[in-house]
Amino acid sequence: MKRIDPKELKPNAIKLISDGWMLITAGTPDNFNTMTASWGALGELWSKPVAFVFIRPQRYTYGFVEQNEMLTLSFFDEKYRDALRFCGSHSGRDTDKIAETGLTPYTTEIGNVAFQEASIVLECHKLYRAEMKADCFLDRTIIERAYPDGDFHTTYVVEIVNAWVKE
Ligand SMILES: Cc1cc2nc3c(=O)[nH]c(=O)nc-3n(C[C@H](O)[C@H](O)[C@H](O)COP(=O)(O)O)c2cc1C
Repeated sequence: MKRIDPKELKPNAIKLISDGWMLITAGTPDNFNTMTASWGALGELWSKPVAFVFIRPQRYTYGFVEQNEMLTLSFFDEKYRDALRFCGSHSGRDTDKIAETGLTPYTTEIGNVAFQEASIVLECHKLYRAEMKADCFLDRTIIERAYPDGDFHTTYVVEIVNAWVKE
């Protein structure tokens, strides 16, 4: 893969995340988990290139994100849709997502896990976390639609410290 400046990323960021989906992966090479996400954002904050990711507390991945300083975001071509669908509908608590999907994890130079099949990998350092709160919703209809069980996402702002694209 070729390392690029995150500002050189070509795909439209909204389409990339919402239509293409991504795998959020955190942990160590020996003990990591990954899950599919389609809610998120790429942009700038505090003069840094950042991603915003949103993870519900019941996800197994949540604990890995909480316990580690870094995470990776992996984006894939359409042919991996089934693998992402699997990682978004099964929990690593009771499934081996790697064995089931055939995805190939690799370890970055600084020890984070991403996937060889990815077309884009963003390696990210956590900067900020905040739990969404019912009181903060200005549009109250979102609570009924997205959080009928009260499982509000935790928001993470992460700095994109490395970006790679498939050549
Ligand atoms: C297309 C798609 C998008 C998803 N986006 C998110 C998301 O942004 N945040 C989240 O917490 N869960 C999201 N999920 C749900 C998790 O991927 C799913 O619950 C997964 O099984 C969690 O795996 P884990 O328990 O191994 O962490 C999404 C699922 C799919 C299929």
